[in-house]
This record gives sequence, C-alpha cells and structure tokens, in this order.
Amino acid sequence: MSDTLLRNLFKKYKSDKYNHKYFKIYETYLNNFKRRKIKLLEIGVADGSSVKAWSKFFKKGKIVGIDIKEIDKKKLQIKSKNIDLLKGSQSNLIFLDELVNKYKSFDFIIDDGSHFPKDVIKSFKFLFPYLKKGGIYFIEDTQTSYNHFFGGNPFDLKYANTHLNFFKNLSDSLNYKEIPNPFYIKNSFDGFISNVSFYRNIVVITKNINNMESNLVLNNSYEKKRYLTKTKRNKNKMKYFFKYLVLFRIFTLILFIYSLIKRLILLRF
Ligand SMILES: C[S@@+](CC[C@H](N)C(=O)[O-])C[C@H]1O[C@@H](n2cnc3c(N)ncnc32)[C@H](O)[C@@H]1O
Repeated sequence: MSDTLLRNLFKKYKSDKYNHKYFKIYETYLNNFKRRKIKLLEIGVADGSSVKAWSKFFKKGKIVGIDIKEIDKKKLQIKSKNIDLLKGSQSNLIFLDELVNKYKSFDFIIDDGSHFPKDVIKSFKFLFPYLKKGGIYFIEDTQTSYNHFFGGNPFDLKYANTHLNFFKNLSDSLNYKEIPNPFYIKNSFDGFISNVSFYRNIVVITKNINNMESNLVLNNSYEKKRYLTKTKRNKNKMKYFFKYLVLFRIFTLILFIYSLIKRLILLRF
C-alpha cells in the first residue's frame, strides 16, 4: 500500500507542493526517512504551510525554514517545537555562513525561495558542502530558468547562465571519471554527486561518494587505460606504446586544440 501521509499533509496545510504535484516526487525520495531524526532546511517559508507539513511528517526531525521576509510564527500559527525560522536571504553568504555554523549540516535541502537563477546557483554552491552524504537537494520551480522576467533565458537554452543549465552540467560531475580529457580540471562537485534527476519544474540531486574507476578511462586518459590493458596480456610493448601513447595521444591533442579554438571563438568558457 502506498504511503500518502506527505500528500495528505501538504493538502491539509494548503501547500502549493500539493497543487504542483511535487508530493509524488517528495514521497518517492523521503518516505523511507520519515521516522528518522533528520535535519531539513527549506529556503522560502511564506505562510508556513510546507514547514508545518514537514514538521508533522518528520516528527523526530528538525525543520529549519529561512525567508527573506520576517515570518510571524504566532500569526501563522506555527506552533511545533521542531520548527526553527530565520530571516535572511538565500543569496547572502554571511547569513548562510551563520546558518551552517548553527546547524552544521542537513540531510535535506529544499530551494523554494526566490527562484532567480543566480540566487539558486549561489545558494547551491554554498550549501552543497553542508549536505550530508546520502543527503538530497531539491530545487523547485525550475521553469524560471526559461523565463527572462525571472532572470532566465528562453532564447539560449543550452548556454545561458541559468540554474537548469548549471544542473544539466552537474551530470558531468556525476561522470567525471569517464572524461578522457588529460587536461580536465576537477571541480568541487566531482566525486560527490550520485544522482541528478530532472522532473517537470523540479530537480533532485543526491550527494554521495562517487569515485568508482571507469572501465574505459584511467586518470582522464583513454590512451593510458588502453595501453595498460593491452600490455598486461601481450608482450609487444613497443607496438602498443606507439599506437596508444603516441598516435592516439596526438589525435586527442588535435581534438583538444580544435575544441579550445572553437570555444574561444564562440566565447564559451
Ligand atoms: C513560493 S514561496 C515558499 C512557499 C513554501 N515553501 C511552501 O511550499 O509553502 C517563496 C518564498 O521565498 C521567499 N524568498 C524570496 N526571495 C528570497 C530570498 N532571496 N531568500 C530567501 N527567501 C526568499 C519569499 O519571501 C516567499 O515567502
């Protein structure tokens, strides 16, 4: 029998997570954790409907809500002891620093704040290190990425500096061990993303150690992997040295220079 507690709570407290049907996604990821002593951070509290629902769902959990506006707990009848509300902006790094100093880390982070691409990216970059291993980061209402009235871009879907493009690019962090670019520079997300899932208007990212070696590439080199695999079984090292560590490398280098020139001409950095 499916567990519908969360959708019922969103409905009861009139959260738009019910109308947008986000409850289906949250149930998929969170039902197994409902009896755990988790820490959840939600950016964007508004009338408090979602923090009320979270507090009843995660009875043993701590719910931390932040909002750029002052939230009047009494007026909104937010009575649960496991809810902490703080005033501050998701794009204010001093405020976020105080927040993580107080709470140390979170199991779940939900961005339902300004929905402006630059804010979403800024808070994700800052907060991701404070998401626990196995933790999940949800970003709601990603349709603003396509909307120029929210700082998005409907005309340049692939290269505009939007949060959807930022999260699409995170899939490269998921696969960074597979990239046969000997000049590849590792970034702080590489090795820590185990899942990036896109749903209509919501993105879900799971943090976990993801360092398994590739079966095709070694230290960002396909040539090196092939050379080592071949010379393990065969004695003719010179032949494989010339083939993989000279010829294949020259091909890689030509492609690298070609791609670099193309990126420079097209101003894609
Ligand atoms: C969509 S509402 C949140 C709804 C709530 N999470 C729920 O599901 O019931 C968005 C909230 O984000 C807040 N907000 C807007 N910009 C923000 C910012 N830069 N930092 C933090 N909160 C922000 C707004 O004041 C508003 O209350």
